[in-house]
Amino acid sequence: MAQHPSWWQTNVIYQIYPRSFQDENGDGIGDLPGILSRLDYLRWLGIDAIWLSPIYPSPMADFGYDISDYTNTHPLFGTLADMDKLIEEAHKRDLKLILDYVPNHTSDEHPWFQQSRASRSNPRRSWYLWSDSAPDGGPPNNWAGFFGGSAWQWDTKTEQYYLHMFDAKQPDLNWRNPEVRSAMYDVLRFWLDRGIDGFRVDALWMLLKDEQLRDNPARTVWGPCDLLNKLQEGQYTEDQPGIHAIVREIRSVLDKYKERVFIGEVYLPVHRLVAYYGEMLDGAHLPLNCQFATNRVWEAQAIKQIIEEYEAALPAQAWPNWVLGNHDMPRIASRVGREQARIAQMLLLTLRGTPTCYYGDELGMEDVDIPPSLRHDPQAKYDPDNTRDRERTPMQWTKGPNAGFSIPGSHLWLPIAPDYQTANVESQSQDPHSILMLTRALLTLRRSSSSLTLGSYRTLAQENINCLAYLREHEHQRYLITLNFTDTGQTVHMPLEESGSILLSTQMDRVGNCNLSAFNLRAHEGCLIELS
Ligand code: GLC
Repeated sequence: MAQHPSWWQTNVIYQIYPRSFQDENGDGIGDLPGILSRLDYLRWLGIDAIWLSPIYPSPMADFGYDISDYTNTHPLFGTLADMDKLIEEAHKRDLKLILDYVPNHTSDEHPWFQQSRASRSNPRRSWYLWSDSAPDGGPPNNWAGFFGGSAWQWDTKTEQYYLHMFDAKQPDLNWRNPEVRSAMYDVLRFWLDRGIDGFRVDALWMLLKDEQLRDNPARTVWGPCDLLNKLQEGQYTEDQPGIHAIVREIRSVLDKYKERVFIGEVYLPVHRLVAYYGEMLDGAHLPLNCQFATNRVWEAQAIKQIIEEYEAALPAQAWPNWVLGNHDMPRIASRVGREQARIAQMLLLTLRGTPTCYYGDELGMEDVDIPPSLRHDPQAKYDPDNTRDRERTPMQWTKGPNAGFSIPGSHLWLPIAPDYQTANVESQSQDPHSILMLTRALLTLRRSSSSLTLGSYRTLAQENINCLAYLREHEHQRYLITLNFTDTGQTVHMPLEESGSILLSTQMDRVGNCNLSAFNLRAHEGCLIELS
């Protein structure tokens, strides 16, 4: 651990899905002034950094992940002046602001693509990936799009196919073209110059594709990282040779500025995931570690294995990070249940490394069943049972109309969860036993404790397979965390000499001295214990 840790090592990141956080102008869609009005809430909660999903001009085929102008804001969200104000007000409160950067593809309405598709001889033709058809007239190869169907779209005007690993309205950029890279680095600089503190880089592991366009093999094995692409292995479309040189280039742009963070979206098995730190730690600062979300087994032994394998795989000095969920996967409370969602919060906020919290998880927000006629997600076109709209519903602020997300009577882009009258910030902040107050207490403890922010991690060997126990230690401070993953009471025999004092229970109802040689955890209970 460096002498002076960077802010992104000690901070807690909070992901905001801007369409759903707070709507100020009453159009039913969240916006930048809305986010501004909630900065004090985030500070109250104990958050230090915000990551905004895309806020750029976009036809919204993939809700902002299809960008038609990288250096502006979508009028739905506000103006560049609103963005500048948000940066300023966030910084005044000592909050960092991280933007989503989507380099793999633009919108088909981006001027670059409009030029690229205008003719085969257009200077921007090679900014995207074009190919002739196969001899039978079909797509050049078998590559499947993440949202379903072929990843190739026929263009009638110029009689070639273009590649789109996501929706047909999201053509993939050609990252082997130095002009593309240079233009995309200018985008980074545009925002860095405005004071943005870093980027979460979308689909980082997918930026290069096989130049020979070889067929991907069919998927035979189902691993923990098969979140999106279910049909085939990404052998020739993901994690390609040469990707790490590009990752280094992106990093070098950020390194020209003081203390900006590079977070990478990477869904790969752990050994390939950690390669994105770079051989000399000159890659992403934080390749996102979503293993708790992609591995769907919520049991003490499975969680223990994930932590230990990840800790062992991390390159020396690489800084870990943990994610429970995001806008692409079912919410944690829906995956593990309401009670276990508290265990998940304690786990996320007490492990070694930077946690990323998804908005609303602090309330235990759950997925919402969205009727087919109200679904928007392009993924739902091909896989209706797998719509990501469910985890993107409006933030629940109050028990009043529209849950305080928007003004009364406005028509919301997605419905509010049916439980909003109990699961909302206003009600839970008045209930000392709520998951919101638990999250806040965890964040407060984390902030004040060097063992939680900087300390080492060690699993404690104990015999109860239903529970996980681990130590976080820094200098003289020693914390023990023990979590019960089941719905029955459990006893954990802790092989420790010290005496313990409970600082926090996930049920928010007990503190004080405890017996570590036979420590009783109630159903779904986790405890944070100070050793002395
Ligand atoms: C990433 C985003 C996801 C989006 C996709 C295409 O995986 O998280 O929401 O659909 O990239 O940009």
